[in-house]
Amino acid sequence: MKRVRLAVFASGSGSNYEAIAEACADGRLDAEIVLLVCDKPGAKVLERAKRFGTESFAFNPKDYESKAAYETLLVRMLQERGVDFVCLAGYMRIVGPTLLGAFEQRIVNIHPSLLPSFKGAHAIQDAVDYGVKIFGVTTHFVDETLDGGRIIDQGAVVYEGSDIEELTNLIHNIEHKLYVKTINKLINKKY
Ligand code: GRF
Repeated sequence: MKRVRLAVFASGSGSNYEAIAEACADGRLDAEIVLLVCDKPGAKVLERAKRFGTESFAFNPKDYESKAAYETLLVRMLQERGVDFVCLAGYMRIVGPTLLGAFEQRIVNIHPSLLPSFKGAHAIQDAVDYGVKIFGVTTHFVDETLDGGRIIDQGAVVYEGSDIEELTNLIHNIEHKLYVKTINKLINKKY
């Protein structure tokens, strides 16, 4: 059976990309990352992709006249490479109908909160500000809304300290394991 072909979309550091790439390399995932898409030229994730030998495509959305225009290009690139699933890993954009329509139920995201609480770009800080004690991570199918779509997996950690950096590290550690678990579910169609 052919290995499942993944595309990872990221905008920043790329620690989740790296966790997935490592799991592909050491056999925990029967998959390969065939394309890394980055909407922030210069982002650290591009260096990580280079290290793992993953083909990457970096683009600036401002160079395109619309979301539909760049997503049309992305769909073509994904289809040309036979991508089965798109994994958003810190991709800071709402996915539009062009991409969603072409990869229905095949785009997933990871978010650093127990959804549906604390959607958006500052989930960890927002949860801290709210006084949360049980923090977590969610993987979910992607729909046209911010951090919306049916939940696949969640992981949680109790934290009552006040060091945001320590908490962020705890959450990232959960993310890296949870994404691998979720992708295994996609591969085995157990979701
Ligand atoms: C992660 O916290 C992820 O949940 C969120 O963006 C962050 C990306 O981190 N969507 P990294 O770039 O994978 O290190």
